[in-house]
Amino acid sequence: MNLAGAHILSVDQFTREDVELLFQTADAMLPFAQRKQITRVLEGAILSNMFFEPSTRTRVSFGSAFNLLGGAVRETADATDSAIAKGESLRDTARVLSGYSDVIVMRHPDAGAVAHFAETSRVPVINGGDGDHEHPSQALLDLYTIQSERQAQGHSIDKLKIAMMGDLRYGRAVHSLCKILSLFEQIELQLISPEALRLPDDYKNQIKASGHSIIETEQLEEGLAGVDIVYVTRTQEERFPNREEAQRYRGLLQMNKDIYTKYCAPSTAIMHPLPRDSRGGDGEISRDLDGHPNLAIFRQTDNGIIVRMAIFAHVLGVADLVSQNTKPVRWLKRN
Ligand code: NCD
Repeated sequence: MNLAGAHILSVDQFTREDVELLFQTADAMLPFAQRKQITRVLEGAILSNMFFEPSTRTRVSFGSAFNLLGGAVRETADATDSAIAKGESLRDTARVLSGYSDVIVMRHPDAGAVAHFAETSRVPVINGGDGDHEHPSQALLDLYTIQSERQAQGHSIDKLKIAMMGDLRYGRAVHSLCKILSLFEQIELQLISPEALRLPDDYKNQIKASGHSIIETEQLEEGLAGVDIVYVTRTQEERFPNREEAQRYRGLLQMNKDIYTKYCAPSTAIMHPLPRDSRGGDGEISRDLDGHPNLAIFRQTDNGIIVRMAIFAHVLGVADLVSQNTKPVRWLKRN
């Protein structure tokens, strides 16, 4: 599809070619993200970054990505600070904000709310996560990371064997990632979760219909066997009917050095959309893996910037103009 002017609401809208094009643009963003050069291609443009649910990385990296392209960012980080707290409908808010901005990123606790908001927006809307539904930009940055981890070992995304473990029922990052992986060839998914937190059938059916294989298990030993990547997730406490119920699953499935050494191949990369839940000690990825060369979680967060820059460049139709309009960096640079 032509991404210029489009809302980005679900990974279902992408073809493999779209993804490859976005990743080429993301690669071209590296000198700007690393502060080796400046581009002002979005000078004068305004992003409204609307986050009605907690967020650190998605909110800050969307904002930084827009700034790195030369644009300005307006932010609302809490529904209680916006007119939604006075009863304004999402439709009215969309109509108003699209008069103030060139693009809007929105995160909302309800599945489908961002798509509903987009119906009345006159500017492109990007889904920054809607309830337990989807998180398309996270899936793109995860896929970009999978591609670079695989390339480092001489492979492409095709024929990937990936384990996803934890809360697969409510985790929107997993939902979007497994759908976008379906665009590739011969993907093997090994889903590890307690029975009650299994991946919903709709997602499984879509993956199987694209010709990929799925196994489901509660056992780490079985689920981790032979995988190239293990994608660990947090129990999505905020989506459970109550806290006590979520509590039953916290820490149940943990990746730690022992498990990794016992069940994973030495080259298996460990990913997680973050945040890891570290309350009360070790979270779903134990700190004894910090510093392990195959722990890719901070490579993922770094990739979030260039991938989100690429999304803005395509949605706002400037992808081909980025390399014109550059300047040198004059301040003291990191490394
Ligand atoms: C994820 C989310 O919000 O869905 N976080 C993120 O955006 N990186 C995953 C999570 O919160 O567990």
